[in-house]
Amino acid sequence: MCGIIGVLGDREVAPILVEALKRLEYRGYDSTGIATVQNGILDRRRAVGKLVNLSDLLMHDPLPGKSGIGHTRWATHGGPSEANAHPHRTGRVAVVHNGIIENFRELRMRLNGATWESETDTETVVQLCANYLDQGLPPREAAAETLKHLKGAFALAFLFQGEDDLIVAARTGSPLVVGYGQGEMYVGSDAITLAPLTNMLTYLEEGDYAFVTRAGAEIYDHAGRRANRDMQRIEAQKARIDKGGYRHFMAKEIFEQPTVLARCLGHYTRGGRVVIHEGEVDFTQTDRLTLVACGTAYYACLVAKYWFEKLAVLPVDVDIASEFRYRAPPISKRSTALFVSQSGETADTLAALRHVRDKAATVLSVVNVSESTIARESDLALPIKAGIEVGVASTKAFVCQLGVLANLAILAARQRGQIGAAQEAELIRILQGLPALTSQALALDDTIRRHTGTLARAQTVLFMGRGAMFPLAREGALKLKEISYINAEGHASGELKHGPIALVDKTVPVVVLAPRDGLFDKTVSNMQEVMAREGRVWLLTDRDGAKQASDGVWKVLTMPVIEPLFAPILYAIPAQLIAYYTAVHKGTDVDRPRNLAKSVTVE
Ligand code: M6R
Repeated sequence: MCGIIGVLGDREVAPILVEALKRLEYRGYDSTGIATVQNGILDRRRAVGKLVNLSDLLMHDPLPGKSGIGHTRWATHGGPSEANAHPHRTGRVAVVHNGIIENFRELRMRLNGATWESETDTETVVQLCANYLDQGLPPREAAAETLKHLKGAFALAFLFQGEDDLIVAARTGSPLVVGYGQGEMYVGSDAITLAPLTNMLTYLEEGDYAFVTRAGAEIYDHAGRRANRDMQRIEAQKARIDKGGYRHFMAKEIFEQPTVLARCLGHYTRGGRVVIHEGEVDFTQTDRLTLVACGTAYYACLVAKYWFEKLAVLPVDVDIASEFRYRAPPISKRSTALFVSQSGETADTLAALRHVRDKAATVLSVVNVSESTIARESDLALPIKAGIEVGVASTKAFVCQLGVLANLAILAARQRGQIGAAQEAELIRILQGLPALTSQALALDDTIRRHTGTLARAQTVLFMGRGAMFPLAREGALKLKEISYINAEGHASGELKHGPIALVDKTVPVVVLAPRDGLFDKTVSNMQEVMAREGRVWLLTDRDGAKQASDGVWKVLTMPVIEPLFAPILYAIPAQLIAYYTAVHKGTDVDRPRNLAKSVTVE
């Protein structure tokens, strides 16, 4: 999604802005631009496509100035074009924006004398502000007045003609941070954007706006009252972003999983017991758990449903956030709502959280970014401890989300009297063994790399699994389709013959996720049905499963033996590697797949 940077520097800012835009690339974008003020003169450069196009433009047509704003745009209103690229401006003000101005049509009608350059919602902000400037309001007041008329979700940075020492920053719905440097001040979408510039940050809160000058930031709340917001020192490691010698962030993040999973699991257990703020999580008072998320985080919730139901005998609903918020799900005061989000900024998940805020007894979240809005608006935020995830395809966050959810299910089981201390210790022992098993699973790397050439040529790939492996089949399919652009579907093995098996012929690879569990024989029967129709089966199972069911299978990937309950955590690894190497074979942009954004901050 769109990214914002603003710098009031003591040196030329164009190169700083471009470097910051590089760090925003991971969020997904299709055009870029910067604006600066030099001796009071406001000017801008914009380019469609990759950031290198803007850099080239700046080589030939430099943009001087020590004050500036920059933007990576992920198109929403109006296609990717130079006219639609940010910063938008009139002669007197330039604006960069992340989010959607929902009342832009109404504003456009009100501003009927204006000349429009773009199809964007953002341009209404610029025109409105210019209108107030024309009426004689000074820049700060013009920006503040503009904000009063905007509806929707937005982070904004304003830069003004004639003002070398002012950026107005505002946040409603989309995150924005203010950064403090040595004689310089910054505004950015997140800590990563500002990482090499400063680690001293203030996170603006909902409805806040700030007048940023080189002397500091004056922050006001949604009602225009002066607000005190904490300045935080962000750990350097939290903002470090490099590929660590790997070709792609996704590969690095896949291979980090044994380490980050161990860190995550270690955070929630001590001496054979789950340790989560007991005072704040009480499953004895809960008669229903509602899990809400999007994309991969949603699939983590679907896996967790099996755990909560089996271990804690707790009824569980799982919902896609964008559906949940517009239904009328009855939420009782005895229910717990849990929101899962890597970024903690996904617009739909955040809106769903706000929807239940005063209805559920407890609002929990499982997040990777602890400073995120979802974390801050929950009663209790449980960090997954995965470290920054840059690849658009979520990998280590999924595995760590499962790690936290597994611990939470064990806690619920204990609190609800479904398991005793010995059983809890045993479950934790099994979980603690997972990082080593994920390392073993990663040893399949080379085999998978060598065999994914055939997948890369497929038009359709199916994934199938039973029980908790069914949501993993869906996650495996999502991973493959988002980075390789191959049509991929994940199905419950038992459901295949109710429709999807019609897709199967000798050109269709079918990935079967089948640890040797109580449902193994049934899954193998479904696999036989696929092979009878010439489907090319990739069987992921353990040694015994391989001995029993390899006949006629096109490719067997032998996995370490694992307690079936937690097998989805382990089997996520080959599913990710299959997606990764298929995409590498196809030559797609693995870390920044087309049309996608890392953090989806618009509805
Ligand atoms: O940041 P979130 O976990 O809330 O993001 C949710 C989805 O947008 C995300 O998981 C998406 O589906 C990934 N690209 C999947 O790899």
